[in-house]
Amino acid sequence: MSIVKLVRPEIRALHAYEAAEQVDDTIRLNANESPRGSLVGDFRRPLNRYPEVRPRKLQRALAERFGCAFDQLLVTRGSSEAIDLIIRCFCRAGVDSVLVTSPSFSMYRHYAAVQGAELVEVRSLPEQDFAIDIDAVLAACVDTTRLIFICSPNNPTGTTLALSDLERLLQARGDASAIVVDEAYVEFGRHESVTALLNRYDNLLVLRTLSKALGFAGARCGAVAGPAAVIRMLGAVQAPYALATPVVECVEDALQDEQLELARDAVAEIVAERERLAAAFATYPFVRKVWPSDANFLLIRVDDARRMMAHCQTNNVLLRHFGADLDDCIRISVGTPGENNRLLQALDTMADGEHG
Ligand SMILES: Cc1ncc(COP(=O)(O)O)c(C=O)c1O
Repeated sequence: MSIVKLVRPEIRALHAYEAAEQVDDTIRLNANESPRGSLVGDFRRPLNRYPEVRPRKLQRALAERFGCAFDQLLVTRGSSEAIDLIIRCFCRAGVDSVLVTSPSFSMYRHYAAVQGAELVEVRSLPEQDFAIDIDAVLAACVDTTRLIFICSPNNPTGTTLALSDLERLLQARGDASAIVVDEAYVEFGRHESVTALLNRYDNLLVLRTLSKALGFAGARCGAVAGPAAVIRMLGAVQAPYALATPVVECVEDALQDEQLELARDAVAEIVAERERLAAAFATYPFVRKVWPSDANFLLIRVDDARRMMAHCQTNNVLLRHFGADLDDCIRISVGTPGENNRLLQALDTMADGEHG
């Protein structure tokens, strides 16, 4: 038994696009490409040629980085594309449903709506530091719950789901649902990635991205790791040539040891700055709560979120306010030490204004 049976029947029957063969050192007259390259940009591979349908060297490097086998990983245009692909592959419009916890990353809801999949939300509460209640998640599952999205560390709360809770969920759902763990922020936390569980649980899919800790949001590169049979089907749905040659080359370069060391230093600085900011925020009279965070942002509760947003904007500092259930909360991404100082100066003047 496996979650492959949960994939839409027409996707299970779908064959991947068969692209023109690409062999080095051959005369390529098989893909209607231009024989002449452009002089724009400086790339190792010529831009007049199509990129690889699936960039194998990059796939190998990312599989190694994320701790899974080559055939357990699909490189995607950011993890956003992976979310879209997974929902399209598993959920029949008007029939199947996606379970999300709330508050969480809005793209799960967005792509579920695009696909016409029903959305079931399980709330996590500020009084419980937004901990996900696995019993409530299990109780909310119905026959059509094909996918359960667990964002860990969660955006925007910064909360990590305990490994024991995740394993309980994986075991309880078995091959009735695929559990999708979104680890966009895992590098900023104290917990290991759960890709190590891939060989033990056939119903686990893990999302990773290069947009956060590696600082490559503009390159649009991420990955989904999971059972090889599911990865093959996601690959059959993904557009051929999804990753452009400049992106493939720039990410290959970003994965060189020297660059990775710089990225590790950058993560260490963000984590140190996050803790400095958390301590500083707690000293302002208008800040009522600073939640602990395993990510590159902090969620705080304040007396008047709109006033703080407006005050910071006047000082050229942009923050994120979500409204609705988090109406009195603000999410603050950790910047460079200089940017964070600018934010704290803005908050100082706001505190002075309140007392003046
Ligand atoms: C939890 C989470 N997952 C996925 C993404 C998407 O990242 P990307 O598509 O850049 O990989 C984000 C972006 O903010 C996010 O917060």
